[in-house]
Amino acid sequence: PTIHVVTPTYSRPVQKAELTRLANTLLHVPNLHWILVEDSQRRTPLITRLLRDTGLNYTHLNVETPRNYKLRGDMRDPRIPRGTMQRNLALRWLRETFHKNNSQPGIVYFADDDNTYSLELFEEMGMPGLSLGEMSLEWAVIRSSQPSWIEKSSLVMMRSTRKVSVWPVAFVGGLRYESPKVNAAGKVYGWKTVFDPHRPFAIDMAGFAVNLRLILQRSQAYFKLRGVKGGYQESSLLRELVTLNDLEPKAANCTKKQNVAWFFRKAGTGWKRSAGFGVQGIVMATRGKPHEVGNSQAQILVWHTRTEKPVLVNEGKKGFTDPNVEI
Ligand code: UGA
Ligand code: MN
Repeated sequence: PTIHVVTPTYSRPVQKAELTRLANTLLHVPNLHWILVEDSQRRTPLITRLLRDTGLNYTHLNVETPRNYKLRGDMRDPRIPRGTMQRNLALRWLRETFHKNNSQPGIVYFADDDNTYSLELFEEMGMPGLSLGEMSLEWAVIRSSQPSWIEKSSLVMMRSTRKVSVWPVAFVGGLRYESPKVNAAGKVYGWKTVFDPHRPFAIDMAGFAVNLRLILQRSQAYFKLRGVKGGYQESSLLRELVTLNDLEPKAANCTKKQNVAWFFRKAGTGWKRSAGFGVQGIVMATRGKPHEVGNSQAQILVWHTRTEKPVLVNEGKKGFTDPNVEI
């Protein structure tokens, strides 16, 4: 499936830098379509050029957030949603472009322009449609003749999303990371957050992906613009799409425990399995010999980083540097 990455963006001194960094990440991902939505009256030359020069597969849209929703000065009002109209426009675009009966497989991911994304987030699973909660790795070890399959199955797999997949996000809610709570059966049963864990979906925008089919089926599902408290934005869409029970945890099932691998140590002439919650490297027995298949134990694959505003005091009122130089 194609991953449709939806990014709202607005003009500010660091905009080009943010988008350059994000584009550099996305360039590593195969089969990706970037939907960049400018919060502006018209599509700007800066973004038009930037998109063209990346060589990425993209769609360039724009919609301006009405002034009464805009931030006043440096004030950050948590009740004013950021990027909401832009994401909604992308949803509408997807529905108009890929009609309900369209069979083109796709995944939709809302990626803000300032976050940090691991490439593993976009990884493809060798065996589509299965998450670690639905199988044991042992099964994989025994049945798989291809080590590469095992390697990939331990990673997060946005591309294998059937309805909505979820994973932890670092640096949100006043925590090192927030995470879905996942039980032994691989089901999400709650949210490991401090800020209102009773939200229907207590998850940051960067912590989930949606199958395009579901977006097309639930054609009335949008992010709510009005009457949405801070932190409820994500719930406002997700509750229209799924129930808790539908969620597919990714990123090693959001728990290190679930990401079990077996280490093999030499025992006499053969190899003895020791249950491992490995960090250093997963060793698998394939064709009778231990086989190094990778060392990814990462659960955190996306960071809600925020860029510091650059200090431009020496520009003065008239501006000191050449205003024709694009930054
Ligand atoms: C947090 C969440 O991570 C966002 O997904 C959520 O939209 C936001 O809160 C919210 O308040 O609704 P945060 O880092 O505070 O994110 O927000 P920003 O990164 O400043 O904005 C989110 C996205 O919207 C960014 O891609 C940004 O470029 C865009 N944006 C922001 C606009 O398009 N217009 C704006 O006026 C502000
Ligand atoms: Mn942000």
